[in-house]
Parts: sequence; C-alpha cells; structure tokens
Amino acid sequence: MERLPKHIAIIMDGNGRWAKEQGQDRLFGHYHGVISVRKVVEAATEIGIQYLTLYAFSTENWDRPQEEVKGLMTLFVDTIAKEVPDLHKNNIKLHFIGNLNMLPNEAQDALANAMEITAQNTGLTLVIALSYSSRWELVEATKSIAQKVLDGSLDIAHITEAVISENLTTRAFPDPELMIRTSGECRISNFLLYQLAYAELYFTDTLWPAFGKEDLIKAVSEYQSRERRFGKTSEQIHTN
Ligand code: IPE
Ligand code: IPE
Ligand code: MG
Repeated sequence: MERLPKHIAIIMDGNGRWAKEQGQDRLFGHYHGVISVRKVVEAATEIGIQYLTLYAFSTENWDRPQEEVKGLMTLFVDTIAKEVPDLHKNNIKLHFIGNLNMLPNEAQDALANAMEITAQNTGLTLVIALSYSSRWELVEATKSIAQKVLDGSLDIAHITEAVISENLTTRAFPDPELMIRTSGECRISNFLLYQLAYAELYFTDTLWPAFGKEDLIKAVSEYQSRERRFGKTSEQIHTN
C-alpha cells in the first residue's frame, strides 16, 4: 500500500476488437466496457486511489460511423442514470471534462444531474473525459488566459506553469502519476498532454472489456516498482 498513486488516468481502448473476437458488433464491446468501468472503480476505491480519470470518448471519436456515435450516447445516458445511485452511496464524486456542449441535450442534463447529486461526496473523484481532447483543452485555456491579459486582470509576466494548469479543465485535480492504456496501442491519442508530463505510462495488451481488478492492481504494482526521477539523478533520489 506504499507509494500509491493519488491519480490514475486510463485510456479504455479495445472495445471494438473485443466484440469482434466474440463475433459481435462494436456496441456489444462498449456495453461490456461498462462492466470493466464498474470493476475498476470498485478496485480503485478499495485500494484508496483518490482520483480516477477515464477516457470515454474523444473529440476525434465524433467522426466514427453515426450509428456507433448514437449508440455510445445512449449508452452514456443510460449508464449514468443507472449507476449514479450506487456511486453516490459509495461516496464517489463524479466530474466530467470535455467539450460537453457538443453532447446531445439529454446527455448534458444527465451529466449535470450526476455532478450535482454527488458534489458533496468525499471519497474517490471519478472524472470521465467525454468529447475531450487535450488540444481542444489547450486552445480553450489559451483563449481564457488571453482574455484575462486583455481585460487587465493578468500580466503576461505572471503567466506561469501554474496559471496554465489553473486554466485547464483538470484544474481541481492533481496531475496523474500513472496512465494506463489497454489494447496494446502505445500512444496518447490527444489525452491530457500537459498533465501527463511526468506520469508513468503503462501499456497492456488486455482489451478494455477484459480488464478487471487484478489488472489494475498489477499496473499499480508496476508503478510502485519504478523510480521517478523528475530530471534528477538516481543518486539524488536516494539521498533525499
Ligand atoms: C474504446 O474502444 C472506446 C472508445 C473509443 C469509445 P474502441 O472502440 O476504440 O475499440 P477498438 O480500438 O476499435 O478495438
Ligand atoms: C482513444 O481511443 C480514445 C478513447 C479511448 C476514448 P481511440 O481508439 O479513439 O484511439 P486511436 O484512434 O486508436 O488513437
Ligand atoms: Mg480504439
């Protein structure tokens, strides 16, 4: 239980390939992906993780076949409605990041409602990245910083790394220490580019619908065995 990451971020990938292996359509894979989400949220709560960010839908995913996009939107709305009572009972606080204005109204209402109900909870903070992309987020942050400079509330000389962090959608959370991606793809795909600067990256071939509690624990143990140097030498780390 030592050296636990406070914040784990996950790119939940491989639903389509998992479904294909089962001889089913892609949506079948997404439905099974929800079961993995439930397992991983339970495991994260049990081991005492404070923040869990899950990449559920990227800005680029809007360009998938409309039938899949529609199916995913229905799945999001239904899952939120179904899961919120249990999440609330387990003291979990829900938060959504991304360009939420692009979502259908029904989905926007469901998200707002889920955040409101769980706002006072003090256990795990579960962040769902929906219609999220890091470049979109950085563009929005740049606009808001530029506006502050323009209206005189911020001096250019006072733009620091902290100011940039405060203008990101993740401003209320620490940076993830561990980023997991399933399905064997070794890329970031526009996820938390600024926030992952020093995260430990963990890639596994397991497809998301096959990922469970043991897989999360394995990733955390691997994280615990790594030496995080933040640019320093190994000797400096050991004498500090
Ligand atoms: C991840 O699984 C879920 C979303 C991106 C919505 P994919 O749907 O990308 O599954 P693969 O990568 O095609 O197997
Ligand atoms: C990344 O998966 C986005 C999510 C898991 C939501 P993709 O399947 O969309 O990523 P690429 O296209 O393989 O990089
Ligand atoms: Mg994929």
